[in-house]
Order: sequence, then structure tokens, then C-alpha cells
Amino acid sequence: METAVKQSFDIAAIRAQFPVLNQEVNGYPLTYLDNAATTQKPMRVIEALTEYYTSYNSNIHRGIHTLAEKATHAFEVTRKEIQKFINAPESEEVIFTKGTSESLNLVAATYGRQNLKAGDEVIVTGLEHHSNIVPWQMVCEEKGAKLKVVPVSEKGEINLDDFKNLLSDKTKIVSVAYASNALGTVNPVKEIINLAHQAGAVVILDAAQALSHLNVDVQSLDCDFMASSFHKMYGPTGVGFLYGKRHLLEEMPPYQGGGEMIKEVTFEKTTYNEIPFKFEAGTPNIADIVATKEAIDFISELGKENIHTYENKLLAYGTEKLSQIDKLRLIGTADHKVGVLSFVLEGMHPFDVGMMLDAKGIAVRTGHHCTMPLMDRFGLEGTVRASLAVYNTKEELDVLAESLFKISSRIK
Ligand code: ALA
Repeated sequence: METAVKQSFDIAAIRAQFPVLNQEVNGYPLTYLDNAATTQKPMRVIEALTEYYTSYNSNIHRGIHTLAEKATHAFEVTRKEIQKFINAPESEEVIFTKGTSESLNLVAATYGRQNLKAGDEVIVTGLEHHSNIVPWQMVCEEKGAKLKVVPVSEKGEINLDDFKNLLSDKTKIVSVAYASNALGTVNPVKEIINLAHQAGAVVILDAAQALSHLNVDVQSLDCDFMASSFHKMYGPTGVGFLYGKRHLLEEMPPYQGGGEMIKEVTFEKTTYNEIPFKFEAGTPNIADIVATKEAIDFISELGKENIHTYENKLLAYGTEKLSQIDKLRLIGTADHKVGVLSFVLEGMHPFDVGMMLDAKGIAVRTGHHCTMPLMDRFGLEGTVRASLAVYNTKEELDVLAESLFKISSRIK
């Protein structure tokens, strides 16, 4: 029996806002299922970018002229929107970065360097993206600290008892994905944060795959830091943010030196600016941050709960469809997932499957998804990954399933 996908909003009207979706690829209507890599952008985001460059392009926080003030205002409006979106107590706790990777590197290079010493431990999970592994390896190596990893089960979940067993008074930092990019698993982050805090550790959440799918509230979670990227939530590429609790950000040294992050500079001594500017050296990507407001409004107007409900139904429908395909094995069958369908076809390289799907206009990601240790855990080189966004439809999942069915029926 097919899972019913009740559409709580007008998907046709949503799709009409995304010009890129309305095209043929290789002679077929585009079926875009690579949203965990990057989502498409609604017209209002593209228009905001154009408007910035055509009517008020100026540097921010520096000029007193009219255009500079308008640009500064628009830039700071986005900061306030992010604060509201994640329910941060203060907008100064939102630092703009190039994205999740830079945000995680920032915490590792500042908080990590300042607080880790030989013998200390950092805990990550086996589900992490390389961005949430390598920065910790680097700082652990420098400080003589140790990286510990919570194992991943066959379903692609982590077990809280395993996490508890790794925690000790040596644990100083716990850095975990809110949701796995490769498998879609949603980690029990609230429980992880409580347990880590009881052990005296700070917690960083990599929320890159969470914010466009789930209702995320940093105050109710009580996380110490959160990192994310705007391009995975209908916004532009190359911009994202780090949220941090004020007292932690204030105690941390700056990440990079340069303009904007200083209060006063002499050749003898430099004093640093207040947060968030202490962490925002140099001219930022103003246009893309300004346009991000439209992406946030797009999500908020649809409603995070509506999006979550709709995508969950799509995920259940897609899971059911793909499960019926002979020689297809789903990788990652956690009880709580965001819209990711990762799979392998028996005896076929994921790249070959990806190429065959592309020939039908279907865009998926293939390979290790920047999670080599996780792929190793499953004894795989990689998977094929179809990932969902709010503009995807049940019909698109039918197109995917039909193509996979044909590919699989040719496997000897
Ligand atoms: N981290 C992005 C992905 O999972 C690029 O595809």
C-alpha cells in the first residue's frame, strides 16, 4: 500500500518560485534530488541579490553615506532574522562566516586552542562530515588531546549508552551533527547536550542539514555553539553563521586579524572589537548575507512545522518505493531522519548509477559525501544519495524509483 502524501501547501506555487526547476536536462524534466549538497534558490533571493548590486552596493559598518547606511542596515537585519530563526537570546551571538566549515574551524582554532591541553578529549560521532572531524583532529594534534568517536549502528544511529561510556572528566568538547548529510539520521542532540554538560563539556552542533528541515531552538537545546550554511536552506552559497553563547564568544580570542575586528591598533598593541565584529575580519559577503533574509522568510512563511510534516511524508513514500526495488539496499534506516535516501545497488558503482540517473534528468549525489569514516563503517566506497527539499514531489520520487527499477532489472 502506498503511503499517502498529503500536501499541506500548494507545491506548484512553491515550485514556481524556483526558476531553475523549470527546465529539461538531457531531454527530461529536471528532477532535482541533490538538496543536501545545496538547495535551489527562490526568485526572491535572486532578486534581493540583484537589488543590492543595482541599487545600494556599499561597504558596511564603515561609511556614513546613505548607501553605506542602507547596506549596513540590510546586513544587520539578516543577523536579527537568524537570531529569531534559531531563537538565540541576542543578535550579537550570531557571527557571519563563509559557512559551516568555517564556523567549525573557527571554534576549533579559538575555543579549542584556548581550552584544550594534553590528555583532554574531544568527542565526535561516526556520522560526521569531514568538516566536523578534521578541524578537531588538527587542534587535538597540536595540543596533545585525543579524539574519541561514538560508534554508528547498522541502522545508522548512535547509541546514547556508547556516548555515556566515552564521556569523562577528560571530555572538554563534544561536536556532533544535528542531522547526518550522508544518511539523514537525526541525532538525539538534546540528550547529548544534557549528558555532555553534566560532564562539564561544551557542545557544538553542526546544523548544516537541520535548519531547513527541523524547528531548531538554541535556547531550548542549550547548545553552546551551532554552525550552519545558508546555501542548504534556500539561500546563497558562501555564507553561513556561527552561533555561540555570549560569555564563551567574549572569552575566545579572535580567529582572524584585519579590518572590522579591532577597536584600536598601534604598532605596540591592538585591542579587539566587541562580538560579533571581533570574529568578522575583512569585508564580508554583504550581498549574499543581505539576500539570505529572503531565504529565511521563505522558510518562515511556509512554516517549519509544515515543512517538516510534508518532507517526512515524502521521505516515508520514497523509502517505501525504493525498498521495493530488487538489489537496492538502503543505507541509513534510522527512526528519526531528515529527507535523505542513501542507497547502493548490488554490484554497481554509485558513480555509474548517478550517471544513468543523470541521463534521465535526475540529479543525485554519489560518492563518500565527505564522510569517508562513515562509508568505511558500512564497508562501502560510497552511496547514491537522493536528498529532499520542500519543493520535491511524490511524482519526482516515482520518476527516481522507476529509473532505479529499470537499472536494477538489468543487473545480472
Ligand atoms: N556537505 C554537502 C553534502 O552533503 C556538500 O553534499
